[in-house]
Amino acid sequence: MKKVNYAVALLLAFVLGFGNPVKADEGMWLPMLIGKNYNQMKKQGFKLTPEDLYSVNKASIKDAIVSFGGFCTGEIVSKNGLILTNHHCGYDAVASNSTVENNILDNGFYAKSYQEEKPIQGLFVRFLVRMEDVTPKVMAALNNVEEKDKAAKIAEISKTISADATAGKTWEADVRDVYKANQYLLFIYERFNDIRLVGTPPQSIGKFGGDTDNWEWPRQTGDFSVFRVYADQNNKSATYSATNKPYTPKKSLPISIKGVKNGDFSMVYGFPGRTDRYLTSYGVQMAIEKTNPTIVKLRDIRLKAWKEEMDKSDDTRLALSSIYANIANYWKYFIGQTEQLKRLKIYEEKQKQENDFSQWALSSPENANLMAQYKNAYSAFEPYAVHFTYLNEGLLASPWVRNVSQLGSTIKSMNARKDDSAYISQLNQNLNTMVSTYQKTYNETADKKIFAQVLSSFYNDVPKSQHPKFIALIVEDFWKGSAEATFQNYADNLWKNSKLIEPESLRKFLSNPSIEELQNDPAYKYALNLVPQDYVKNNFGTVYSQFQAEKNRLDNLYLKALLAKNKGALIYPDANSTMRISYGQIQNYSPKDGITYNITTTIDGMMAKYQPGDDEFDLPQSLIDAYAKRDFRQYAENGTLNVGFISNNDITGGNSGSPVLNGSGELIGIAFDGNWEAMSGDIAFDKQYKRTISVDIRFVLWCIDVLGGAKNIINEMDIRTNKLPVPKEKLILK
Ligand code: ARG
Repeated sequence: MKKVNYAVALLLAFVLGFGNPVKADEGMWLPMLIGKNYNQMKKQGFKLTPEDLYSVNKASIKDAIVSFGGFCTGEIVSKNGLILTNHHCGYDAVASNSTVENNILDNGFYAKSYQEEKPIQGLFVRFLVRMEDVTPKVMAALNNVEEKDKAAKIAEISKTISADATAGKTWEADVRDVYKANQYLLFIYERFNDIRLVGTPPQSIGKFGGDTDNWEWPRQTGDFSVFRVYADQNNKSATYSATNKPYTPKKSLPISIKGVKNGDFSMVYGFPGRTDRYLTSYGVQMAIEKTNPTIVKLRDIRLKAWKEEMDKSDDTRLALSSIYANIANYWKYFIGQTEQLKRLKIYEEKQKQENDFSQWALSSPENANLMAQYKNAYSAFEPYAVHFTYLNEGLLASPWVRNVSQLGSTIKSMNARKDDSAYISQLNQNLNTMVSTYQKTYNETADKKIFAQVLSSFYNDVPKSQHPKFIALIVEDFWKGSAEATFQNYADNLWKNSKLIEPESLRKFLSNPSIEELQNDPAYKYALNLVPQDYVKNNFGTVYSQFQAEKNRLDNLYLKALLAKNKGALIYPDANSTMRISYGQIQNYSPKDGITYNITTTIDGMMAKYQPGDDEFDLPQSLIDAYAKRDFRQYAENGTLNVGFISNNDITGGNSGSPVLNGSGELIGIAFDGNWEAMSGDIAFDKQYKRTISVDIRFVLWCIDVLGGAKNIINEMDIRTNKLPVPKEKLILK
C-alpha cells in the first residue's frame, strides 16, 4: 500500500483517535524493541533472534530494508544492490520513461546488463543506520517552557540532537514523536540518490485487475518492479554518475520458493506511513459524515475528466496514467473506509471504549473529562470540515494554482538580486523544472473542466457564510444562470486571457518576467487568494489552528493515560513512516456467511479474469503462451503457479513493496495491498477481517525468468528450495 499523498495526510492529520491494548497479529512494532515480542513470535514459528532482525553491532535484516522514495518500502535481494518493490511504487518511474515509441509501461522491460538499467532522476532510497530513544533529552529541554513555546522548542532540540548524531557523517537524521508526543525517537539514515530501473512487467500484469480489483481479495496482480542502488567507487552514496557502481549492501535477503500454507508464520518489515488507531468516536463520525464523502466527490471530478482524455489518445494516456493511478487509489480507499467504518460499527466500538476510559478516569482530575473536551473541540470545527477538505482536495488540486500563486515572490526576489548571477541562474533552473513538471500532465480540456466543476461544487457544498470574497466576485462578474455555467464561463475567460496557465505561454512569460504584467494577469489575481497559509488564516480565522492545537493536547493526554491504564502491556505506537515489524500468520478468512476465501490465488484464476483488449483485465501474449504450455518450472506448486497470498499482518500505506518473510527470514512475497472487508483498518484493526495481500515471490521470479528471459537478474539472487523440480509430464497431465 503506497503512502497516502501529502494533501490527504494533512486531512487525516486532524482526525485522531483511540484503540485497545494489543491483540495478537495487530501491531506495527519498533524493530529496536522487538525483543519484547520475542516469546510470542517464537511460539508462532519465528526461528531467528531479535538480533537477526535489528542490530547496531552486526549486519541484520534491517540493513536489507529501504524506504523507497519516501512513499514505499523496498528490499535488497542481491549482493549487487538489487531492490524489489511494488509495480505501483515504481509506476511513476516507469511511466515517465515511457513514450509511444518505447512504451515500457505497456510492454514491460528487463535490463539484460547494467548498461541497460535506466537512471531515475529524483528517486532515492534510505537505509536505517539506527534508532534511539531520546525522550529524556527532549523532555529536559521542555522543562519550564510555556505551552505556546513548546513546538518551537521541540523543533530546536530535535535539530540539535540530529546534528550531533550526524556530525562528520553523510547521514541524515530525524527526531519523531510516538504515542502522540509522549515519547521521542531519533532515526538516523543513509540516503542513496542514484537509483536505476532494472525491470518491470507490462502494466497489464503489474496492475492486473486495475481499480476494479484494487483493495480487494481474491487478487491476481503481479505488483512488483525491480531497481538497483548505485554508489561511488568507495561504495558510498553519490549523485548519478556513469562511473558509479552497483552498491554492495551490508545484508541481502535470501528467497524461499517453498511456498506458503495456512498458519505459517509470516512477518512484514517496512515503513508504514500513518495510522490513526487512537482516533476517537468524534473523529470517526467526522470522517464518515464530512471528510470522506467530500474527498471522494472531488476525486471523482478529477478522475472522470482525466479518463475522458486518456481514452482519446495513447500519448495522453501515458502522460496522465501515473497521477490517475494515484488519485484513484485513495479515491477507492476512502469509499471503502467509510463503508467499513459503518459496517463494522467502529463508531459504536470507540464510544464503548471511551465510556470505559471515562469510568476508569473518574478519579483523575486531568483525565476525567477528556472526552467532553474532545466533543467540544470537534463541535467547534465540524461546521468547517467540508470547507477545509475542499482546500486541498479541490481548490489546490489544479496544479497551475499552486505554481502561479508563488510567482510574485519569486519574481520580486529575482528583481531584487538581479546582479547575483548564480542566484538568478538557480532560480531560472527551478522555474524550468517547475514548468516541465507541470507541462507533463497539463491537459487543457481536463484541467479546465476540473477547475470549473470544483468551483461550482464548492459554491453548492460549502456554507455560503464561509465563502471567501473572491467567490462572490466571480459570481457577480461571470453569472450565467447556474453555478456550473458561471464557473465554466469564468474558466473559459481565464484560459483565454491569462499568460500563466498554458505551459508554453507560461514559459515565454518566465523568460522575461514583468511584475506589472503578472499583477494584471487574471490567473495570478485568482491564485493569490489561494496561498495555503493565507487562505487558512483568512477563511478559518483561528478555528483550524485552535482545533489542531486542542486536538494535539488532548491526544497527548489521552495516550499518556492509556499507557498508564495498560502499564506492563505491549502497546505499539501509530505508524509514522518509521521502520516497523509486524508479525502473524498466513491466514484465510470468511468475508461473509457461507464463504471462505483461500489463502492463495493462481494463474488459473488470472486467466479466468482475462479479457482481451480490456483496460484492466488484459494480459500480454507471453503470459498466455507460457500458460498454454503450463511452463511454470521450479516456481510451480501442485501443477499451477501461485500469484498472490494473504496473511493477517498489520500494514498500511507506505508498507507497499515490503518484504513478507517466513520464520527463517527468507523472502516469500512482496506486500502490496489491504482487503475490502477491513478498509477501516487504519482507524481500527479488525482481527477477524484484516489481511495483507502480497504477490508470491515465485510469480515474481517466473515473470522475470520465463516471461522476461532475464536470467541475469535471477542469477544474482539467493533462491532456496527444498523440493525437487516437478517432472514436466505431471504438469501437462494436470
Ligand atoms: N491499493 C494499493 C496500495 O495502496 C495500490 C494498488 C495500485 N493499483 C491500482 N490499481 N491502483 O498500496
